[in-house]
Amino acid sequence: MKELKLLYEGNSKIIYGCDVDGHVVIRFKDDATAFYNIKRAIIENKGKMNCRISSMVLGYLNSHGVATHFVEQLNDTDQLCRCAKHMAFEVIVRNVIAGSMAKRLGLDEGLTPENVIFDLCLKSDELGDPLINDHHAVALGLATYDELATIYAISAKINTLLCELFDKAGISLVDFKIEFGRTAVGDLILVDEFTPDTCRLWDKATGERMDKDRFRRDLGHVRETYEEVASRLANILKK
Ligand code: TMP
Ligand code: ASP
Repeated sequence: MKELKLLYEGNSKIIYGCDVDGHVVIRFKDDATAFYNIKRAIIENKGKMNCRISSMVLGYLNSHGVATHFVEQLNDTDQLCRCAKHMAFEVIVRNVIAGSMAKRLGLDEGLTPENVIFDLCLKSDELGDPLINDHHAVALGLATYDELATIYAISAKINTLLCELFDKAGISLVDFKIEFGRTAVGDLILVDEFTPDTCRLWDKATGERMDKDRFRRDLGHVRETYEEVASRLANILKK
């Protein structure tokens, strides 16, 4: 890979242009932020662990019929990914009630509803990523109703595949956030990352949190926990 050109730096990742047409290099950083930048820290080794975990998860999805932007892991912290125009909303998938949903509705964390819950959030740090619905997304020009139907179907498939994968690793997939993008030919693909920064993982044996809540809630052992998630997944996937 020749010299990389910085395109964008976010809280946890840097995007570089590269010499492979239609592709970018994504570098995972050790920086951790929460509550819209109020809480910040450097967690040694997080970049490497998140690159490894996201590469394993997106690679697994690619090989199970879910198209993602991930092409290959280049080194400890970098991935080669396909370019896509990111849609300006996040999809949150919830199997167990936790986090903002528990708070907003006055529910106990840990309740398991009969159905899987899908939320949409507008990507806007200034507004605090507000919850929106399908009609808002269409009215704001973020997606068509047909695209939303496809996005929910893909999100449900991702949930089924990943619940099974994490279950084998002794982990319950409580909730997660994913993002979608459109390729040059208009195909919808999964973009961004799937890491303990963007999901909730609870150890099935102990109930211990194995995700960014350890950082958000000052539970300690953040680095070790991310390493444990990477090692359990690698074990299952024989990586
Ligand atoms: P929440 O409890 O804050 O609504 O988050 C639900 C899940 O989505 C949780 O696993 C964290 C993840 N998430 C992100 O990764 N980024 C975000 O901006 C938001 C709002 C949630
Ligand atoms: N809402 C997400 C979190 O708590 C993102 C953020 O706070 O920046 O991590």
